Amino acid sequence: MAIRTIRTEGDEILRKKSKKVEVIDEKIRELIQDMKETLHKYDGVGLAAVQVGILKQIVVIHESEDEPIYVLINPEIISQSGTQIVEEGCLSFPNKFAKIKRPEKISIQALDENGKKIKITGEKLLAQAISHEIDHLNGEVFIDKIVPGTLEIIRQEN
Ligand code: NI
Repeated sequence: MAIRTIRTEGDEILRKKSKKVEVIDEKIRELIQDMKETLHKYDGVGLAAVQVGILKQIVVIHESEDEPIYVLINPEIISQSGTQIVEEGCLSFPNKFAKIKRPEKISIQALDENGKKIKITGEKLLAQAISHEIDHLNGEVFIDKIVPGTLEIIRQEN
């Protein structure tokens, strides 16, 4: 296991579309373990493989210690409804936060890390996280859809 380097704003890979995972092999499993470790290390809620430089449709989401870690491979949106305006950030934009419009509820299907088909319905924070991470797989990032006038740029302490 290893902590992977997170690609940040300005890195063109963040604008590329990720490809479907065809076979869940050892290499993919290792990537998933590293993504979990990297997410935990940087205290994030979600991480997409593209953020560690791999253009594959893999996402890990961990809302809090009380919740399971979701691994979503090749996720597809089945339905989404409602809207919520939420405060949002992204590990690839470590100094930026803004308000974003997200679905209030979202249902997706995906494969888990064992290749098993799963369906997940998320509301509130989980819906936000799933929507944010699926955007990454499409080469979209949260600053594309901020509510005008809500961007905050936090100065980094070294
Ligand atoms: Ni992000």
